[in-house]
Amino acid sequence: MLTQPQLEILSATTDFVKSQSTGESSGHDWWHIYRVEKLAIFIAEKEEAELFTIRLAALLHDLDDWKFNESNSRNAENWLRSTSLEEETIQKVLHIISQVSFKGAGEKTIPDSMEAMIVQDADRLDALGAIGIARAFAYGGSKNRPIFEPETAPELHKTFTAYQNSKSHTINHFYEKLLLLKDRLHTKTARDLAIERHDFMKDFLENFFEEWFLFGEKRFP
Ligand code: ADP
Ligand code: NI
Repeated sequence: MLTQPQLEILSATTDFVKSQSTGESSGHDWWHIYRVEKLAIFIAEKEEAELFTIRLAALLHDLDDWKFNESNSRNAENWLRSTSLEEETIQKVLHIISQVSFKGAGEKTIPDSMEAMIVQDADRLDALGAIGIARAFAYGGSKNRPIFEPETAPELHKTFTAYQNSKSHTINHFYEKLLLLKDRLHTKTARDLAIERHDFMKDFLENFFEEWFLFGEKRFP
């Protein structure tokens, strides 16, 4: 059960994150955060995990994302410090957030706590399925990436730097990240939710190539 002061901090954090992310157009908008928090709560209720830090981390997880910020931005930390939270809780939340992000096919990103596993699973579920497809193309567009270029095959990046530096078309992102996520989830609840989302992306790709290569042999990947 959450205490009244904890509920107040969650509510203030929600308002803050909403004000920072509403209208964002690369798939990292307020509604992404909203879904990740709901998914994290759903997963956490099935596992024995500490809900307060999970919810705070879910709300704040994208505020300092490397894809949009200077590497040393501290928006989440500054926010947490402006609340009445104790140092120990602040550190716990920041530690969870630091373990959420995908860093390329070859980089192991296995969190060291159940709380971080749950937030990572929730974030990854929102990169899958119909919503995942919409977010991938929104992100690609925001970074001037082409939809698809049949000549450029996907690459399984060995390092985070290689993944960060990649400028490939968005269809490759499915092979470089999205289709890998199903086997990298930590909780059974997330794995169960991922099955349909994963299969939907595979069907989408099949149709995409069927339309694209209507008058020519498929030459990808
Ligand atoms: P992560 O921190 O694991 O990258 P995010 O919450 O920041 O997770 O969300 C990643 C979202 O951004 C995904 O939905 C994904 O589709 C999109 N994205 C990230 N990189 C790319 C890319 N290179 N091409 C297309 N979409 C991307
Ligand atoms: Ni996210």
